[in-house]
Amino acid sequence: MPKGFHILTVTHKQTNLNKIGAFVIPNAEGEVLKSFLENLKVQFNLKELMYVPTCNRVIYFLYTHSNVDEVFITDFFQTINPTLNAEFIGEEVVHYMGYHSLEHLFRVSSSVESLVVGEREILRQLREGYDKSLNWNLTGHNIRLAMDGAVIAAKDVYSNTRIGEKPVSVVSLAIEQLMKCELPTDARILMVGAGQTNNLVTKFLVKYNYSNVTIFNRTIEKAQNIATRLNGTALSLSDLKNHEGGFDCMIVCTGATQAIINKDLYQKLLNGEITQKVVIDLAIPNNVEADVVEHFNVNHIEIDGLKLLAKENLAFRQKEVTKVEVLLERHLEEFEITYRQRQITRAMQNVPTEIKAVKEHAMTEVFKKDIESLDENARLLLERMMTYMEKKCIGIPMKAAKSVAS
Ligand SMILES: NC(=O)c1ccc[n+]([C@@H]2O[C@H](COP(=O)([O-])OP(=O)(O)OC[C@H]3O[C@@H](n4cnc5c(N)ncnc54)[C@H](OP(=O)(O)O)[C@@H]3O)[C@@H](O)[C@H]2O)c1
Repeated sequence: MPKGFHILTVTHKQTNLNKIGAFVIPNAEGEVLKSFLENLKVQFNLKELMYVPTCNRVIYFLYTHSNVDEVFITDFFQTINPTLNAEFIGEEVVHYMGYHSLEHLFRVSSSVESLVVGEREILRQLREGYDKSLNWNLTGHNIRLAMDGAVIAAKDVYSNTRIGEKPVSVVSLAIEQLMKCELPTDARILMVGAGQTNNLVTKFLVKYNYSNVTIFNRTIEKAQNIATRLNGTALSLSDLKNHEGGFDCMIVCTGATQAIINKDLYQKLLNGEITQKVVIDLAIPNNVEADVVEHFNVNHIEIDGLKLLAKENLAFRQKEVTKVEVLLERHLEEFEITYRQRQITRAMQNVPTEIKAVKEHAMTEVFKKDIESLDENARLLLERMMTYMEKKCIGIPMKAAKSVAS
């Protein structure tokens, strides 16, 4: 088993999301973060260190021959955040070592440890954390090999299981439903609200080339930001009641706690049209009054239905975890073999030079006088034999090492 690997982590699985921040290196970016990590590496006698903070986990991936025990872990996190007490650290930090740290890394990269199982964002975050640590010379060949293995395993998981297949975010699901309506790309879309959720919706509208979008928002600047991305029109929310262009689809999502679209306003916005309209309401509570759905010809896509769908899809992804675990087991076995081979290859890398040096020493020192007494032909034969022996001697330990490693 690869020794020396350790992961110290705090994750959403055992810790409240708002407490995870206490285990992240505080207020540190760029050079400040770099020198903080460099100091940690020296202070705790780490050969390698990789740091990955995300919003629902923080990972410290270490390679060290130090004894990583309770005292080490307490000291480590109190260096990061002196306000943390030992008991809290003991409760929240999970320590994986050796094989288990690699297993955890592979599981994280394949998203089975994620809050939303099957999301690929974590792989990007891991790679970003690794690249940063590598560029700052915090990591070496051990963490490089582990990360290579984790990335290969994750790619295999995403391509050969259905773990990331069904959407689980409300916005992706809403867009999936919208696409089923097969509206043309020049369909008239009214978007109400320009917060985070509608910004995500915008990403998809851009992706699917919707080109006729009017955005209404209380703060016009935010509507303008979205309009720019969609080449659309930004208007103030107060202008909504004056809109006369009709619509094919309405996407409503604001933080208002009362309905924004009531029966009268909807009637007005229809502008006399009677064809079915798509109404997407992503707000909690709903921003489109229940009466609107009852009285008009509406294809209604709303958050409660989407949440149910998200739950079903998440359950589907969860079922894939068993398949993922079988794949990961195989990748971990392969990693162990590769890792052992690389360790031996590294240990053997000086063998050729050392054998050459033995030969040189024999020829030029130990047997110098004997060789001088030989005739030319005998000397050449001896040299050829020595070169032959040198090559064969290099091959023997390499071959033996490979057979031991596999
Ligand atoms: N974020 C999510 O993942 C998510 C997912 C599903 C549903 N939701 C729901 O979506 C709604 C909006 O969430 P968000 O994350 O997009 O919020 P957000 O980023 O805070 O944006 C809120 C939006 O609502 C507008 N707004 C707030 N109060 C309003 C009021 N009284 N009248 C008119 N407009 C008002 C804001 O206008 P200004 O720009 O003028 O402030 C802004 O456009 C909430 O009901 C939330 O529960 C959110």
